Amino acid sequence: MSPDPRIEALLSQMTVEEKVGQLGVFADMVRPFAPDVNPETNMRNANEILEHVRAGRIGALFNGVGAAEGRATQRVAVEESRLGIPLLFGADVIHGMRTVFPIPLGEAASFEPELAYRTARATALEATAAGIHWTYAPMIDIARDQRWGRVAESAGEDVLLSCIFAAARVRGFQGERLDAPDSLLATPKHFVAYGAVTAGLDYNYVDISEQTLRDVHLPPFAAALNAGAMTIMTAFNDINGVPASANRRLLTDLLRDEWKFTGVVVSDYTSDMELIAHGYAADARDATKLAFLAGLDMSMQSGFYAEHLPDLIESGEIPMAALDTAVRRVLSLKAAAGLFDNPYRSLDPEKEAGTEHLPAHTELSRDAGRRSIVLLKNDGGLLPLRKSGQKIALIGPCAQDRSNLEGCWTLFGDKSRYVDLETGLRDALETADGLSVVPGCGFEHAIDGGIEAAVRAAQAADVVLLAIGEPQYYSGEAQSRVQIVLPEVQQALAEAIAQTGTPVAIILRTGRALALTGAVRDAQAILATWFLGTQTGPAIADVIFGDYNPSARLPISFPHDSGQQPFFYNHPRTGRPELPNTTEFKTRWRECSNNALFPFGHGLSYTSFAYTAPVLSTHRLAWDDTLVISARVTNTGDRTGEEVVQLYIHDRVASRVRPVRELKAFRKILLRPGQTADVMFTLDRHMLAFTGPDGQFSAEPGIFDLWVTPSSSSGRPVEFELLPGSA
Ligand code: NOJ
Repeated sequence: MSPDPRIEALLSQMTVEEKVGQLGVFADMVRPFAPDVNPETNMRNANEILEHVRAGRIGALFNGVGAAEGRATQRVAVEESRLGIPLLFGADVIHGMRTVFPIPLGEAASFEPELAYRTARATALEATAAGIHWTYAPMIDIARDQRWGRVAESAGEDVLLSCIFAAARVRGFQGERLDAPDSLLATPKHFVAYGAVTAGLDYNYVDISEQTLRDVHLPPFAAALNAGAMTIMTAFNDINGVPASANRRLLTDLLRDEWKFTGVVVSDYTSDMELIAHGYAADARDATKLAFLAGLDMSMQSGFYAEHLPDLIESGEIPMAALDTAVRRVLSLKAAAGLFDNPYRSLDPEKEAGTEHLPAHTELSRDAGRRSIVLLKNDGGLLPLRKSGQKIALIGPCAQDRSNLEGCWTLFGDKSRYVDLETGLRDALETADGLSVVPGCGFEHAIDGGIEAAVRAAQAADVVLLAIGEPQYYSGEAQSRVQIVLPEVQQALAEAIAQTGTPVAIILRTGRALALTGAVRDAQAILATWFLGTQTGPAIADVIFGDYNPSARLPISFPHDSGQQPFFYNHPRTGRPELPNTTEFKTRWRECSNNALFPFGHGLSYTSFAYTAPVLSTHRLAWDDTLVISARVTNTGDRTGEEVVQLYIHDRVASRVRPVRELKAFRKILLRPGQTADVMFTLDRHMLAFTGPDGQFSAEPGIFDLWVTPSSSSGRPVEFELLPGSA
């Protein structure tokens, strides 16, 4: 890239203090912000912040909101600081701004990347109108352990699905042009392998093979960068003993030298400071030096760079050229975002007022919500319900709840617009008196006489909608769980309701996969509804009454038991796989099945689909050739519905033990009753590649199994052979 003369001119005039200033991002104390999402370290008050901005000692602020106040702060940077370098305003805008969309895990269940693009675009529109240039999203950590609270922010356990959603979200946030007033810079995070924290315990250590790092945790980052992301956030965890925020091998050797990333690497909140707690740095000065030399451009909130970089430059421990490189990257980011041309972009109070409530975004939230709901089970076709002529008892702590609709990491949602479940159902019903509502219990506590009242309501009803699940503070940062089960009091409620014999449909709110047991597991119907955001009630009502035919599929495996974690469908084969009827000395748990209760990719519809065996263009795929696979899918039910047709492969013999199955492609199709579609996929050897023992990423010739199926655990394989290339 040729140097930008404006940036070079600035660099030549900047003092070391001003250069270092560009590398610091601090919590915005000038505009209203959310104090409880990060620990309160190193807080500064508004006047202090403005003083630093005026002195050119701060380059970026985060988690503030408001165009007018942002404009005033920007004016201080542009008109009162010596060089007038504009500020960059960042924020955690994860799954919506004023309008809240489903948690990313839920949205991934739609298997519709275009949907993620649209919600990210809408989010960008609202966030930039509110004076934000830069979001700390998408979170693209692969989440294979459901004990980890941040599963909710991810796209789940699969590499391909995560890559596709990562790219869609980056494109959606950023739009066509980075300098457009509604473009929101994306920050894929957390680099890297944060989802692999041991035992699902947040911030815990990560001990991982190079191959798993490369084949599982790195690909979503590559996809996000290919989609145009210009910044990346480091993770809190260490990787094989080296904290991510001071990991030169990852931040420089891989990101810069191998991947040619030219953008900005920002720390997570005080993650440079945390090098000391890790025992990796002796003190603040040491931490600064280690992080900076590893390739960390910007420091978030610790103030370490501001405090120690000047001295490290002075002593020659950090070369001025390295400082200039980091500053150049930050200034280039600001230039790319159009801030040098128009520092007041995205800071227009009128636009903000006009964007507060966009009905189209409310509609999108509803559509995204219903497209995220997974019908896990529907024995006897209990769902959908009729809108009249049926007595429905809505029971459970989620029935009327308005405090747990948005899910984790929703700092700026307009709570006044949230629609709860009861309201959503009532609005859909033709006769209001058909619905009785009883909470039964709280999320974690019993209510005096609650279960008795719920039982009476169930007895008087034709059907129970049991709205239970996790409160939203069970998921998100630092919310690891040991037992991924429903709170005891809710399980007791479900058991009591089951005793009445009235058919039960569970409406399950959750930020992770749960191990469902007893009356919950055995209910006639179960809907996984995640946290859906602004339009929770209407979105669920659409599915309950069949105005929308559920089409989402699980992006994570639901286990039988908490003790199975980490548990994911694409695990490597063992030498003693469990076989039918031979259980001794096999890979098996004593207490429960090896299989998922509900596997990755699973989800039902109100209609049914039949698959024919896939037809392959050849069963002998030449090294440089493409395999065309076609499967015939028919809607065999009586409703129009969408099916997610999934292509999996398995490499039978390889120089490294391969997963039992891997998703390689999927297609979501809409079919009318009786309609048939030929679904085509193509496959080439690049899609069969993996990182071998020698570190080479390539495919190996040999036999593969291939499935075209409705989930990761169904269908019959056909085989094909990848032929060797001519040497
Ligand atoms: C810590 C979280 O890990 C990260 O995802 C978030 O962006 C920062 N805090 C800033 O709030």
